[in-house]
Formats: sequence, C-alpha cells, structure tokens
Amino acid sequence: MPETRILPVSSDHPSANVIDEAAAILNAGGIVAFPTETVYGLAADAFNENAVRRVFAAKGRPGDNPLIVHLAGVEQVSQVAAKVPSLAERLAAAFWPGPLTLVLHGNGMLPAAVTAGLDTVAVRVPDHPVPRDIIIKLGRGIVGPSANLSGRPSPTTAGHVFADLQGQIDLILDAGPTHIGLESTVVDVTVRPPVILRPGGVTREELEKTAGPMRIAEDLALLRRSPGTRHRHYAPRAEVIVVQEGGQNALDQNLSDLRAGGRSIGVIVRTLNVESTSGLRVVRAKGSVESYARLLFGALRELDGAGVDAIVIEAPEERGIGEAIVDRIRRAARGGNPI
Ligand code: TXA
Ligand code: MG
Repeated sequence: MPETRILPVSSDHPSANVIDEAAAILNAGGIVAFPTETVYGLAADAFNENAVRRVFAAKGRPGDNPLIVHLAGVEQVSQVAAKVPSLAERLAAAFWPGPLTLVLHGNGMLPAAVTAGLDTVAVRVPDHPVPRDIIIKLGRGIVGPSANLSGRPSPTTAGHVFADLQGQIDLILDAGPTHIGLESTVVDVTVRPPVILRPGGVTREELEKTAGPMRIAEDLALLRRSPGTRHRHYAPRAEVIVVQEGGQNALDQNLSDLRAGGRSIGVIVRTLNVESTSGLRVVRAKGSVESYARLLFGALRELDGAGVDAIVIEAPEERGIGEAIVDRIRRAARGGNPI
C-alpha cells in the first residue's frame, strides 16, 4: 500500500515541479487525486489498463460503471472518440473548459476497463490549470472519477479525499475547496435529442440555449445508458429527510417528531429557520443556491461523521443549479424519505 502524500498546489499558477511530479507518477502507473472546478478527481493514465483497474479498486467502484476521460482541450478528443457530431462541437465550444461531460462514440483505443466495455466514451475538459497542465505534460488523457469511496459524497476538499482514500493512492494535490462543489453535467450526444444523464455544473437552461431541447434520463431504459446513475450514491449512514424551500411547517414538524423519538439530528438549511438547541447540529448555507451547492457534500460528510441518526435537508427550487442539488439530495435520501 502506498503512503498517501498531500502536496499543496496553486490553483492560479501551479508550480512546474508539482506538475512534473504528478505526471511522473501517472506515467509510472500510479494514482493522483487532483482538484477540478467541480469536485476532486482520481487520475490515472487512461491508456494504462492496470492503473485504471487500481482506480476502480481504490474507490471500491463496480466494474460496470465507466469513467470520464479528462482532456486538456477539444483538440485531444480524437485520442478517444470517433467522429464528433456538430451539436457536440457546439456544446464543447460553448462550455469547455467547464463542468460539462459529453458522451460520444468511442474510437476503440481505450482499455475496455475505462468505458466498462461500452462503445461510447465520456469526455470532459475541466476548467482548472492543475489537470490541464498535468494532461499536457503527460501528453494524453487521464481518467477522473470523483475521488471518493464509492457510495460516499464526492470530495470538495483534499481532506475529504484523504479521509476516503488514505493508503490507497500515491498523491493528493491540494488546491483548496472546489469552486462549484457538485459534479459536471453529463450529456449523451450520441442520441437525438440529447439526453442529460446527470444534472450538474452546467444548467439545463444554459445547455438548451446552445443546443436546443434535451431530454432528462428519467425512465429506466435511459438510466441504463448511464450505469453510474443506477448505483447507490451519496448515501450517508443517517436517515435523510427532505423538506422543501418554503416548508417551514414541515421542517418544524419533522424536528419535533425526531426529538420526541429521542433521535440525534443534523439539519442543512438555506432559507428555513432552525432554533439552535442542544443535541441539534445545524449547517446553514446563507446566500445563493450556488453557495449551497458548494457546501452540500461537505455538510453531508460533517453530519454523517458526527454520527447523527437523521439529517433533515432543505431542497431548493428545481431550476438552474437547483436541479443538480435536488438530484444529489434525492440520491442521498433514497431508502430514506424520497421527494
Ligand atoms: O465533475 C465531474 O464530472 C467529476 C470531476 C472529477 O471531473 N468526475 C466525476 O466522475 O463525477 P464520476 O466517475 O464520479 O462520474 C461519472 C459519471 C458516472 O455516472 C458514469 O456512469 C457516467 O459519468 N459515465 C461515464 N462514462 C459513461 C458512458 N460512456 N456512458 C454513459 N455514462 C457514462
Ligand atoms: Mg462519482
């Protein structure tokens, strides 16, 4: 088992030494956690099958859940994808670098482990100089699943990565908390109209302005196209109860029921009011929904780590980035109290 080192790195001008070291580890088949604008990712050389298998093993990720290949720019797409439809070109021009992942037809060059044997490949160009410089130095794409243990919330700090993967990976590059806090939007552009497989950092409204109407993967047939959405995700140990923005009465009722049952409680709110009393842990996201997105995963980890029996979460309106937030809250609540 490797000893996991943490190296600080600037998110404006990453030092060449740090980039060289990360690229050398990847070249030798190692694994490096890296910051992006969305969440921290787990890098391995996308063309090294053994290294890719180590990524699955470190995360405890089922082998049928494919990985996203991260590239330095749109000019590298031909390394991994067959012809790119013009609609995908338009989306790439509008949103790369940025929190958008495109599912394209593969060109058969990647090890089958990356794509879980599918004939499609998911690609994204992250908006962060650290992965960009590493990929340029390496000269080829890296895989980049979120750097958490499978079933845990995605990591938004190097500390989250360390808590999950200490001893499993070689290096964590620490550039501070990530800017968006939720993962990229995954869009399948091999079908018409395109299908949003996972809402994320680019909103549906923004996508549709560029590429016209899209479908959301809701029915099972579509979900099967994105194997990751089938697996249990973002699942805290605590029971998760969801209340809507504007649902002050529902929040108060849930809290009094939980207290009456003697349960220890965590609460995550943005607009609703909670009286701080003993035995109640409260995370307040004051301000925009964007700032709510930034702190959600960390709040789930914090409350779960505190060992509360139940977490009550306020769900924002389902538009803009709120669509992705509600998606993640639903996944956290599945098996608990679905909305
Ligand atoms: O923001 C992000 O996308 C982060 C950062 C690190 O870039 N990465 C990330 O990767 O969230 P991961 O592996 O945790 O989620 C990738 C999602 C999964 O739901 C997976 O099933 C889906 O993308 N996916 C990957 N390849 C696919 C393919 N060929 N077809 C359909 N879905 C695919
Ligand atoms: Mg993930």
